[in-house]
Order: sequence, then structure tokens, then C-alpha cells
Amino acid sequence: MDSGALKDTSAGALRAADAGRTVRLAGWVARRRDHGGVVFLDLRDAGGIVQVVVNPEDRPELEDVVHGLRLEYCIAVAGVVRLRPDGTVNPDLPTGEVEVAVERLDVLSPSEPLPFQLDDRVDVDEVKRLQYRYLDLRRPRMAENLRARSRAVRAMRDVMEEQGFLEVETPTLIASTPEGARDMLVPSRLRPGHFYALPQSPQLFKQLLMIGGVERYYQVARCYRDEDLRADRQLEFTQLDFEGSFWGQQDVLDTLEEIAARVTVALRGAEPARPFPRLTWHEAMERYGTDKPDIRFGMQIVDLSPVFSTTGFRAFSAVLDGGGSVRGINAGPLGLARSGLDGLVSRAQELGAKGLVWMVVEDDGSLRSPIAKFLTDEERHGVATALDASAGDTLLIAGDDTPVVLEVLGRLRLDVGRPEGHDELAYLFVVDFPVFERNEDGDLVPLHHPFTAPRDVTEMRERPDEAISKAYDLVLNGSELGSGSVRIHDPAVQSEVFEILGISTEEAERRFGWFLEALRYGTPPHAGFAIGVDRMIAILRDQPNIREVIPFPKTQTGADPLTGSPGRVEEAQLAELGICLRPEVLAAWAEEEPDEGV
Ligand code: AMO
Repeated sequence: MDSGALKDTSAGALRAADAGRTVRLAGWVARRRDHGGVVFLDLRDAGGIVQVVVNPEDRPELEDVVHGLRLEYCIAVAGVVRLRPDGTVNPDLPTGEVEVAVERLDVLSPSEPLPFQLDDRVDVDEVKRLQYRYLDLRRPRMAENLRARSRAVRAMRDVMEEQGFLEVETPTLIASTPEGARDMLVPSRLRPGHFYALPQSPQLFKQLLMIGGVERYYQVARCYRDEDLRADRQLEFTQLDFEGSFWGQQDVLDTLEEIAARVTVALRGAEPARPFPRLTWHEAMERYGTDKPDIRFGMQIVDLSPVFSTTGFRAFSAVLDGGGSVRGINAGPLGLARSGLDGLVSRAQELGAKGLVWMVVEDDGSLRSPIAKFLTDEERHGVATALDASAGDTLLIAGDDTPVVLEVLGRLRLDVGRPEGHDELAYLFVVDFPVFERNEDGDLVPLHHPFTAPRDVTEMRERPDEAISKAYDLVLNGSELGSGSVRIHDPAVQSEVFEILGISTEEAERRFGWFLEALRYGTPPHAGFAIGVDRMIAILRDQPNIREVIPFPKTQTGADPLTGSPGRVEEAQLAELGICLRPEVLAAWAEEEPDEGV
């Protein structure tokens, strides 16, 4: 059969107005009800599902073929659209008012019995889903995720193109650059013992494009980071990356807001509230205990240190004497029994707090709490006032080093807080991030990346721990959607940042000399941003992890069960690359099952 003739209509497009039309459809058997007589099939294609009906009494020549059909056979039918009889209309299906009376049916391709049911209501082990991703993608929810992804990326490109950004590709075999994660390395055959790194992001190339006079750049860029995988992290992921010359923070945030609004319309059908609220990093940390607050609900952290400044309650006075703070949240009417409240205390300890004090506001306004008897009337009143407490509320209070208190209350807030509506979206800009933070060894490391401009160079030089940068984030419902900054365009400042980071002039010259040199050729002031495309789509599609919106993702352990990557390679390939595997790797191999490829 000529394949052009197989299909003239999409299954999902048929409506009551099409009754009487003769159509040709092609797709897959999503459901079949075969009681020996009339056979009802749900025919699914990329556009949706429609019911088709085969009556072997009218079409005896179809009897054998229709009874032989199995789920997921790929078929073509021709027939007449008709209204479904009264009482059989399916209001849940866009095509539910009609069915197609089949006159001709061809099996294009049979299917083996399926490894799992392609029904969104059935939970299937994820490894199995990934092993048969091509079947998983036939499920309506996954098919819609793919379509939503395409719409979202189109909306992003639309804004970029309208605003005069030039799409430019940057290489994926590059030199290692310092962006915080571990690099993915690719050995070079032509220069054995030398390695490319896959880009953690196009950061330095987009800056080179600004030096190259591009002025407005964007790219839907694949990025690679060898980090531990989580619900919102993959080894390879996609960014909408953009950069502009003669641009500042406000320009970037305006463009970002437009992109976010258009993507939201494309995926949710409605504009989010604009302008997006803005918090400084310091405000976000103080009020929500995190740099990516979920502001769909209040429950802000309040500093109660002044209330307890002269307290006789030892745990709090010791903390305050030691320079820490006592802070609390009003968790609202949780209605927890004693065991539930004790559960919150254990949770706080798990999160690193020494303890947690709970207080429940009784109907008469008094506070029920294990520590109530240690507090003065004034302190009890002070707490209730500061936390705006009313009868039935549960107050959670922690005293410790301030970063610990903020972290713990910030996490508890997420555990007990409830966004009001399911569909709410709360976009937020967080600005004025510190330039540096301290890592576990106490060393200064960039909070964003080392190409981020400080607000004030003297401040950075003299008080690096407190210095504020020109970095900003976009947050949605408590997730970091993306980050960016105004960049350093002065090579002297860039060298100074490397110096503060403990990278010697020689090392900076060896590793980034090419970039420092580029900065010396009339670099325009520039700023930019990168949105995590997978994260944004997952949140807007209400998906629990980004794997749901990535066509072919890796598992939590970085494997692809479909193609078997990562896999071993032939000894000869390694030899060509000048690579010899370490004895402990070979010993570990000997313990494993034999792998294809070796
Ligand atoms: P950053 O490292 O913050 O900034 O990354 C930007 C956004 O990319 C997404 N993202 C990830 N998504 C999935 N899996 C991962 N492993 C992963 N890592 C990051 C997040 C994140 O907010 N070059 C800078 C941007 C700039 O300064 O312009 C950068 O890459 O949504």
C-alpha cells in the first residue's frame, strides 16, 4: 500500500460535525473489546484516540483480521464517521461523540505481547519503562509531555527571536571550565593522554560571543554535569541559555519574565501574575531559610531573639550568648497529637538542629509546650505576638547557630506548609546573591560562578565573605529554574577573583589564559541567564521529576536501560586512546556479569 494513502485524518480530530465523512486513519490499537461479534477498538495516533467499530456481519472479509488484532498492533482503517448511539457517548474523550464504522482494515505491523500495560493509571517500574521507552512514550501522558516540551521550547524561541537574539551553537568538546560540578571527560585519540570536557554550560563561549560582537545570543543548549542525580538533576540536561551586551540585570529580568509568561501560557493556558515579586538573597534566607523559597504560602520565619534576650531558659540563653539566634514559624492549625509533634522534633534533629520547641495555642490564648513553665508571661506573650498566633496554631521554634536555625525552619516550613490550590504558580526573582560562600573545608568558592561581577570590587577585596554580587535566580514554586548574572568584563577584576579563590596567577594563566586574554580586547559589559528547560517543563506539567519530560533520560544511577549505556568498550578502542584500565577496575569487572562490548 502507498503509505501516503494510509491516512487523511488524525484520530483525535474527529467531532460530531464530521459525521457522514469517509476517513482513513492509521495508528495503534490502544484497547479492544471483542465479544466474538462486533469489535470495538480504540485507535490511537499522535493526535489522540477515537473509537472504531468493526462489524463482521456487515464485513465478513474482516472477520479473521479483526479477531486476530492484539494491543498495539499498528493498523490502518477506512470507514465512515457516525454519531455514537444514545447512551454510549464518552464525555471524557474529545472524540467521544463519534465512532468510525470500519469498511476496510489492514494490519501494518503486528506487536509482540507488551512488557507492561500502556495505561496511565497503571504504575510501572521505572527501569522497565526506560528499557522500553519507545512504548512508554505511546502513553497519553508521556505523549502530552513531549508535545508540551515542544510548545515550551517554541515559546522560548519566539521571545528570543522577537527580541533580536541570534541563535548560535557552541561546541560540546571543550576545555574544562570551573562551574562547580565534576566534568564529563572525553579522551582524545589524536592526542592520547589529552581530554576534552563536555560543557557544564556554554558559559565562556557565550561570553566570547559577546566579545565577538554578537550582542544578543541564545541557544537551546545541552549541558553535561557529572553530579549525583536527583529528581531535578540529570547528567545531561537542557538550558535555554542567553546573553546580551550593553545589558544589565533589569534587562535580563524583563526578558526572563516575558519568557516565563509565554511558556506558562503555552503549557497552562493562562498568564502568571506579573510583575514577578523580587527578594534579595538575604531576605529570602531570613524569611524562608532558603535561596529558593516556595512563596505559595506565607509561614515566614520570624527572629524571636529579642523576645528571649534576657531569658532564664538555658537552651535559648546559651545559644544567644554564643552569637546564635532563636527563630520560629507559625505553622498554623496543624492539629497534631503529641506523637506528631514529637515527630517534628525528630525531623528537626535529623536536619541538624539540637532540638525544636513546639507550642500549641490553646483556646484561652495560653501556650501548651514542654518549655512553657520555663518562660515568663512576657516571653510567652512576646512569642505569640511576634508569630501573630491565634487559637489552635502550632508554633515551631529553634535556637542554634543562625544558618542551622534558618535551614531547619526552612525545611520544616516545606514539610508542614500547604500551598492553597493545586495549580498555583509562584514565580519569584531572587537577587543580590553573595559573591562567595565557604565550602566544607572553609575555602571561599563562588556562589554562582567565577565570572559573576561583584557589586563593588573594593567590598569584594576587603570583605569577601560579605561581598554581594550581581547574580540573580528565577524560582518557581520552591525550585531554582535558572540563574544568571552580570559578568566581569574587566580582566583585572577577573584575575582578582581567581586570586581570591586561591587560584595562583600562573594557574589562572595556564587554565584560563585564553579567556583572560580575550577580555583584553574591548569586552562589552554583558549579562545573561540560563533557564533549566527540563525543570521548568516538569513543574508546569506537574510532573514529580524531570525524567518524565525528557524523552530518553538516564536512571537515578546514570544508566540507560534501553541502550545499555554506559557500556564497556573493546580493548582495541582503549589502546587507540592510550588508555589502560586500573587493576581495581578489571578486578571489579571480573566479579560482574559479562557485559556486551567486551
Ligand atoms: P546554573 O549552573 O545555575 O547556571 O544552571 C542553570 C540552570 O540549569 C538547570 N540545571 C540542571 N537541570 C537538570 N539537571 C542538572 N544536573 C542541572 N544543573 C543545572 C537548573 C539551573 O538553575 N552558565 C550559568 C548560567 C549563567 O550564568 O548564565 C549556569 O549554567 O535549572
